Amino acid sequence: MSNPSVYPVPDTYLENTLLDEEGYLELYNRSIHDNEAFWREQGQRLDWIKPYTQVKDVSYNKEDLHIRWYADGTLNVSANCLDRHLAERGDDTAILWVGDEPGQSREISYRELHAEVSLFANGLKSLGVKRGDVVTIYLPMIPQAAVAMLACARIGAIHSVVFAGFSPEALAGRMDDGGSRVIITANAGRRGGRSVVLKQNVDKAIALCKETSIENVVVVNCTDDETPWQEGRDVDYGKLLAAQDAECPAEEMGAEDPLFILYTSGSTGKPKGVLHTSGGYLTYASLTHQYVFDYRRGEKFWCAADVGWITGHSYVIYAPLANGGTTVMYEGVPNYPDVRRVAQVVDEHQIDILYIAPTAIRALMAEGDKPVEGASLESLRLLGTVGEPINPEAWKWYYRTFGRSQCPIVDTWWQTETGAAMLTPMPGATPLKPGSATRPMFGIQPALVDGEGNILEGATEGNLVILDSWPGQMRTVFGDHQRFIDTYFSTFAGMYFTGDGARRDEDNYYWITGRVDDVLNVSGHRMGTAELESALVAHPSIAEAAVVGFPHDIKGQGIYAYITLNAGEEPNEEMRLAVRNWLRQEIGPIATPDVIQWSPGLPKTRSGKIMRRILRKIAANEFDQLGDISTLADPAVVEQLISNHNALG
Ligand code: WT7
Repeated sequence: MSNPSVYPVPDTYLENTLLDEEGYLELYNRSIHDNEAFWREQGQRLDWIKPYTQVKDVSYNKEDLHIRWYADGTLNVSANCLDRHLAERGDDTAILWVGDEPGQSREISYRELHAEVSLFANGLKSLGVKRGDVVTIYLPMIPQAAVAMLACARIGAIHSVVFAGFSPEALAGRMDDGGSRVIITANAGRRGGRSVVLKQNVDKAIALCKETSIENVVVVNCTDDETPWQEGRDVDYGKLLAAQDAECPAEEMGAEDPLFILYTSGSTGKPKGVLHTSGGYLTYASLTHQYVFDYRRGEKFWCAADVGWITGHSYVIYAPLANGGTTVMYEGVPNYPDVRRVAQVVDEHQIDILYIAPTAIRALMAEGDKPVEGASLESLRLLGTVGEPINPEAWKWYYRTFGRSQCPIVDTWWQTETGAAMLTPMPGATPLKPGSATRPMFGIQPALVDGEGNILEGATEGNLVILDSWPGQMRTVFGDHQRFIDTYFSTFAGMYFTGDGARRDEDNYYWITGRVDDVLNVSGHRMGTAELESALVAHPSIAEAAVVGFPHDIKGQGIYAYITLNAGEEPNEEMRLAVRNWLRQEIGPIATPDVIQWSPGLPKTRSGKIMRRILRKIAANEFDQLGDISTLADPAVVEQLISNHNALG
């Protein structure tokens, strides 16, 4: 291939691959043309208690919307991730845990993990947790996070993992929405050399809950930090385990029984509880993990995401364990004790596959080649990225440094809603183009549509939709099915709307251009502008607020808040800090605004709608691209906004 911007499949992959390019195209075509047969076959990667006879039962018609896969089959997800591996690979390492401090690590075999999950599952039962109950998990990156998730799955409880970086307010909202009566937490976690208190956040959150009352808080003691204790309510994890039977039969669950809820932000309202079910989700997660990462038994797979996000659910826990692999669980951050840490962990543990977010790559790249100084990295044979578009410069840096110009990079596009990877290269099959998530996964039919929902052909740009269902698709918004239909199936009739825009090139490669709705992607964390704005206006000094994203070198997008204070309030430094801390308190540190601009007025249409397009352009310094501002109620506002923006320096 002569095109310098195309990276052909390396010879090492051509010799020994699961699938070459021709193989990919053949299987992909079959997966579309013989869709049901393909998925009937793929379901076989799991162990079923009662085999399914039905495969796909789907309608994308919004009057009769339903998505069901393998519906008459029964199985247990934890048994698929643990029990079925015991006979052949019980002593293989299931979890390689790597601690925040260098030198700390622990290997947990399938047998050990199975034993602890069984004990804890019995422990949950002893607290009255039953099949169908929602259990909240608010844990750092410790093995007990995996234990807690799998223990819920074992007894048919639905877990709702809340990222441990969320504030008590954000946690309370999710506990209320899910209606959980039990929460699993730790006294504190370790991150970047510091303790992060968690149990205290849980206590505060419980006091804030309006809809649900928490009966038990299970606490893992993972640091030396003291923690307040409420007798009768709080339960020590170790003591709970010590009181249990070792055997816990796995509950027989329907394929369509819920496995978990995971909250994610949308363009309107509160975060949505994305609901995933059992059989389809695990089938799809397992399939993608095998093909996208060309995963082989015994390899160490390091997905550096937190279990609080979908990437952590699917590629730290469920997919690698369903495939009998070794998953690396890293407690810390990429730059502690210094920027060489990621490479050191790779060398020390001889990691085979590294899957991290572009924002981490950009943060490391800002240090030149120091992050790989003195490292060998020869154990790595494949790299991956996820969560946001990767700029070609960062891609090439990652390829040259961590990849030693030998490892393919799989840039995987997907969403909380999709369960697992949707657009992605496969290492032996896909010539790579830096910045492109390339081609669809088996069974996935992406399309680009214009504003009216007309399907666009050829090399073009448009709204990214998916035309037909796949087993890993979310099934509903927990407690609000109408919101599910409205959000994903109403913009364009008869198709799933992703909320992303994309371009397709002459080779049929997809290039994600970013969200086309009011959702931000800040360091790979998804945030709704509506959610940020409603938190802001809840502050007693704020009259009005509008939030937009702007290009940020490391975070991808930064948070830019335009704020109108109440009459009589002083727009000074003290107020700026108060507003900043307010967002951290209401949502969490990930919601820390990068820029706060005092705005005596916001650009509104005569009907009162804020024209965000203008705010986005000003935040990005694109004053010459403001477009038509004549429809504004008061066009003079724009001059004022630009001069205040410039004054920020
Ligand atoms: C949004 C989903 C995928 C799990 C982690 C994030 C953006 C995700 C890519 C990629 C360009 C990407 C999209 C998507 N996104 N992966 N490889 N290239 N953009 O899951 O929090 O649900 O966010 O992240 O905008 O819609 P999420």
